Amino acid sequence: MFAPLETPSAEQITDPQATLGRALFWDARTSANGRIACASCHDPGDWSADRRRQSTDAKGKLTARHSQPIFNAMMQTSLRWTGDRASGSAQAEGSMTGSMGYADKAAALAKLKALGYEPAFRAAFADQAEALSAANYGRALQAYQRTLVTPAPFDRYLRGQDDALSPLQKRGLRTFVAAGCAGCHSGALLGGQQFQKFGLAKDYWSETGSERVDEGRFLTTGAADDKYVFRVAMLRNVAKTAPYFHDGSVATLDGAVRVMASVQLGRTLPDDDVAAIVAFLESLTGDVPAHYAAPAQ
Ligand code: HEC
Ligand code: HEC
Repeated sequence: MFAPLETPSAEQITDPQATLGRALFWDARTSANGRIACASCHDPGDWSADRRRQSTDAKGKLTARHSQPIFNAMMQTSLRWTGDRASGSAQAEGSMTGSMGYADKAAALAKLKALGYEPAFRAAFADQAEALSAANYGRALQAYQRTLVTPAPFDRYLRGQDDALSPLQKRGLRTFVAAGCAGCHSGALLGGQQFQKFGLAKDYWSETGSERVDEGRFLTTGAADDKYVFRVAMLRNVAKTAPYFHDGSVATLDGAVRVMASVQLGRTLPDDDVAAIVAFLESLTGDVPAHYAAPAQ
């Protein structure tokens, strides 16, 4: 049902593509207005998510949805709240004309060239004639993000260290499984692998108080079955990534657990079960990786 995280090797972290990806990720000069880096909305203080309900992009506009954590995210089968990006490289490439604010990819590439990034692209993609390309921008950012893995007490527990979880956390784990949460939130990330309707037992907005009803995957596929369908969120570091859900509509983890029980399972959990589940979810908090920071110049 669950699996421990596999941590990256030292070679993966110092690989030239990952090193280039790290430089790009933290460099605000690479956006259209010169003020927004990937890290602006994926804050280390927020475990690579954003405490703001919506973030401001390089056009000065608010993002349509809440910023997600990127730690461990590359292991998911598709990316973003509705799984409309197939991979980390596709997601990053899309950012050029999205959050990073460019009219087209050519403009983004011209900026990278002007900033002197060409030699670093040539070093990272030595076998390619055209090293400075949108595809390689995506590949480098994906390589860096693959190294951002955060093992936690729960992994030590899964590997056999019984006292890695407190008695309350173990109770929370049993409750999480028995209540049916693990039917959707399973695997190494406790999520990230399936699409499900948000609001199986009742409309999600009746419990989240969402100001706007987001139709989820339906907006990209147009299929009636995809109305209000979202990717099951992964729960790694979830205690550190408030506010919750695709619109950041719920401020606390306790509140998010109650909403899930109500709208996905059609039940009200007793307070002590909610507290135990929250304690268990806290065992999924790992350390912010040391290389989740701007590289030394
Ligand atoms: C203006 C804020 C902002 C900036 C800048 C930004 N992001 Fe994001 N990021 C978001 C938001 C908001 C989402 C959720 C989007 C959605 O699902 O609609 C997201 C989602 C993601 C995801 C998907 C995570 C998952 O679990 O599926 C990845 C990966 C990601 N961003 C990486 C990046 C990279 C790499 C960059 C730089 C090229 C970047 N982001 C720049 C706000 C931002
Ligand atoms: C039928 C599938 C399903 C079940 C069962 C389920 N969830 Fe979820 N969960 C989801 C989906 C889908 C989302 C993303 C909703 C959205 O779009 O905001 C989610 C989101 C969450 C979030 C918010 C994550 C974030 O980063 O914002 C938490 C916390 C959570 N679930 C915990 C639980 C708990 C605890 C249970 C059991 C009481 C549970 N879930 C049961 C599908 C499920």
